[in-house]
This record gives sequence, C-alpha cells and structure tokens, in this order.
Amino acid sequence: MSCFSEEVPFLSVIIPGYNRFSYLQELVDSVHAQADYPFELIVHDDNSKDGTKDLLPKLNEKLSATIYSHGFNFGLAESINRLVRLANSKYILMLNADLKVEQPIFQDIVNVLQNRYVGYLTLNSIYSGIPRAINNNGTNFMFTRGLGAGCAMAFRKDVWNEVGGWNNKTVATGNADVSFMTRVVRNGYFPTLLVKNTADPLITNMSQFHKNGQDSTIGRQPFDCSLPRLFNYEPYMKQSRQRYEDAANAMQITYKEPEGEVNIHSWHTFLNELITEDYQINWILAQKHGHTRWKDQIKILELEDYSKLLRKPAEPEFLNIVAPETTLEFVKRIMKKHYSAQNADELAWIVEKVKKLNPKAILEIGVESGGTLKIWEQLLKQDKDSILIGIDLSPNMQWDISQSKVSASVIEGDAHTIAAIQQVENILQGRRLDFIFIDSEHTDQASQLETLLYQEYLKPCGFIGYHDILCIKGFIDSLDQSRVERYIKEPPYSDFGAQNSPGIAIYHVN
Ligand SMILES: C[S@@+](CC[C@H](N)C(=O)[O-])C[C@H]1O[C@@H](n2cnc3c(N)ncnc32)[C@H](O)[C@@H]1O
Repeated sequence: MSCFSEEVPFLSVIIPGYNRFSYLQELVDSVHAQADYPFELIVHDDNSKDGTKDLLPKLNEKLSATIYSHGFNFGLAESINRLVRLANSKYILMLNADLKVEQPIFQDIVNVLQNRYVGYLTLNSIYSGIPRAINNNGTNFMFTRGLGAGCAMAFRKDVWNEVGGWNNKTVATGNADVSFMTRVVRNGYFPTLLVKNTADPLITNMSQFHKNGQDSTIGRQPFDCSLPRLFNYEPYMKQSRQRYEDAANAMQITYKEPEGEVNIHSWHTFLNELITEDYQINWILAQKHGHTRWKDQIKILELEDYSKLLRKPAEPEFLNIVAPETTLEFVKRIMKKHYSAQNADELAWIVEKVKKLNPKAILEIGVESGGTLKIWEQLLKQDKDSILIGIDLSPNMQWDISQSKVSASVIEGDAHTIAAIQQVENILQGRRLDFIFIDSEHTDQASQLETLLYQEYLKPCGFIGYHDILCIKGFIDSLDQSRVERYIKEPPYSDFGAQNSPGIAIYHVN
C-alpha cells in the first residue's frame, strides 16, 4: 500500500522510456531539482536496446518504482497506461524521456488539474510571453486552441480512466498523444496550457529532432511527439498527413483519411471554434461534447484584465476568479479565520442542506466563539432583512457582529429560560426561522428541551441541526427516524485543525 493518502495530495511523475539512456539521468535529476511539491517518480523501460536497463538500478534512490518490459516493446501508449496504473496519485505528469524540467512546475500542475473541467494540461517546451490567461489558485493557465504538445502532459487519473487510457491504434486518429487528447476533449473536458510569466522554458527537449525519421522515445510508433505544436499550424498539418501515409505504407495498408471526429482536420476546426480567437468559449458548440456541464465553473478574464496581466506579473487577488468555491472550501476558509468547534466535512454536509433552504433567518444555540455562526451569516442574503441569532451562556465572539450586513444578535444567557425565548421572539417579530443549530450542552436532556422550546419558531420546511450526535445518541434515536438524516465523517478528515468527527444530524420537524 502506498504511504501517501488522498488527503496529502502529491504528483505522480511518470516517464515512459525507450532508448533514451543518454538523457534519462538528467531528466530524473531535473525532476528532483525542480520539485516544488511532493511527488513520486516511476519509469518504464520499454525493452530498450541501449543502456537504459543498466542505468535504472543505479537511479534507484531517485525512483519510486521501475517497470521493465523483457523481450517486448509495448510502445508509448501501453507504456503510459502501465505507468498510470501503477501511479498512486490522481494527478499524473507524463514526461517523455528526453525532456528536462527547467523550472518548478509541480505545484502549478496540481493546482490546474484540480479544476474538474480541465482534461489535460500541456507544457510547451518553449513559451515566451503571456497569452490571455485564465487563472485559478494563483496559477495562470489558458485554454488551448488546438490540442497542445503531447510530450509533456499532465492529466487526472479519473479522466484517463474515463476515456479508456491511451490507445495504440493511432494511425487513424493521429499519434498516441493526439488520440488521447481528442478523446479527452470529446468527453467534455478542456485542453489547457500552463502559463508562467517568464520567457524561460519550463521544459526543454534534450534530443535532436527526429533522428532518421524515428523518435525513439515512442519506440514502436515511428512518430515524434516531442515537438510543441498546435493544430492550426498549417505546415504541421501537411507533415502530419504525410506521416500517416508513410505509416500506413509501412504497415502495407492503404491510408484512408478518417472521417468525422477522428479526422484531425475536423478536430482542428472544432477546437478552434470551441475556443474562439479571443480565448472565450463558444458555449453553443461546447454543448456538443458536454462541456457545458462546467459552465458555471469557468470565467474567462475580460480583455482588459488580460492586458493587465501582460503588463505585470499577476497579483494574487487577481487570480481567484475561475472556479467557484466548493462548500467544503467555503467552510474551511471561514474555519481558518474564525474558530469553529466543528469537523469541516460534517459542517459542509449540513451547510449544503441549509443553503438549499435559501434561508432568511437562522438561530444557533451554543455559539461559543462564533465561527460556525459566521458560516450561517454567510448563507443569509446580505441585507438587514436577514436575521441571525446566537445564544450562549457566555459567548466569546471572535468577530464583531455589529459590522454584519445582516441583522445579527447574540443573546447572552441560558437558552432554557423564558428570558432567552422572549428575546428571540422580540427579534423575530412574528417571522420564523429556516434553521436552528443546536450545539450547547451535548446531553440528551438539553437537546430534547431545546428542540421542544424552539421548534415552534421554525418555518414549515425548516429543520433543526444537531452537533455531536454521538453524545446525544439517545435523543436522536428517540426521534421519528423517517425525519432524521445523520452524517458521521469517518477518518481521514479533510481538515487537520478541527475536532474529530462527533457526527451531525438534521431533524425535519414538520
Ligand atoms: C461546543 S460549544 C459550541 C461550539 C459552537 N457551536 C461552534 O460550532 O463553534 C458549546 C457552547 O454551548 C454553550 N451552552 C451550553 N449550555 C447552554 C445553555 N443552556 N444555553 C446557552 N448556551 C449554552 C456553552 O457556553 C458553549 O459555549
């Protein structure tokens, strides 16, 4: 079993190697030298005829795993598939064996791949200037018009799996990388390119271009995939067609121009229409392959913002505009700033449900430092019509409720008293609560009492949430179970600071 877990993300760097003995050590060293993120490194020697087999054991210290093929060359696609199967991370960076990593890029790669709509990320070997970029997590990247260079490509394992991995039958559809990339795009993901604000190369290619028409990185396939290229590059198109014809001749079959989506010309057209010249997305066309499922996650920078980027390095505050925050990220962000005695995963679970109520009024009993109350505040419409009430025996609020955009009050006192109930009534002025969060004494008795005292202030579809249900199991079990939903997060937890999982539940009173 891997010592890594999904909770500590890392990058699986994989190198399919065939007859790249003279470059491999330098590549492996460069991976280590430039690593700015946890990684594992796995190499496949695809039955090389050079010294690769003898070299790999010497690099053992620097490799997480090595696979050898004996007596058979699998070719690039199957070599990559073997490596991906072995990889432990969901984030994969595939590097051809004759490349060299010139800059720290691992963190950026993981940042970009975390966007679910990204199918793969390419890294041009030489990239100067900043194109119109889209940004996320402090990382600049852009949608590519065309498929991008396949020699250094990062992708998620789930996407690889979804498209059935890399595919050796590449004569009809293009090279192995092209075949993979088109299938990824056809499955509704976007091709992207990492953009660094630097004229220096991120990755360089150490080998001579196209020795004797053979690219030995690829082995069985006599194609070169180590050149950066875009499909709107006409000379490449011609060269590419010629190569298919040559390959078909070599295999003694007649080259037939493929039709429809597998025809690279139609892909060229599709991709260049999908990502328009000003790097916007043509959402109508995008519908064809299901890209529209990401529509609310993507915001492309306006032209004026692109030009700001061109003038100066991107500022962090400029970079937070692509993917909307997930509920868990939202919860964690607030919890990082304000102490909340919750488990982030459980809180996110209940927040999702409260959000659906489109709440106007929320009450929390037992607010302590108010971190969780801050989360409820954020779920309310940000105006004075919204009501937020907290009650605590001795509140120790860590944020200033008087600055809140909603009508917020924290009642100091025992929630079980008439005085507290009257104050709640005074604030509500006949209005009702969408949600009550009970997190006070954590005893069966107190939970039952608070439920009885406050449930009448709930709207018909409102509900009550309870924290720490492992402590109040007797009370929760006593409720009509058809009205109860529970969630107890088993480890591992997505946050490190908050308390372990005490369980959370909802009681649909009405
Ligand atoms: C576990 S803490 C609440 C944590 C908080 N809900 C959060 O998520 O960060 C429990 C709080 O309930 C308060 N409390 C206990 N019994 C109470 C009661 N009868 N009335 C009001 N507050 C009470 C305590 O003062 C304490 O601050």
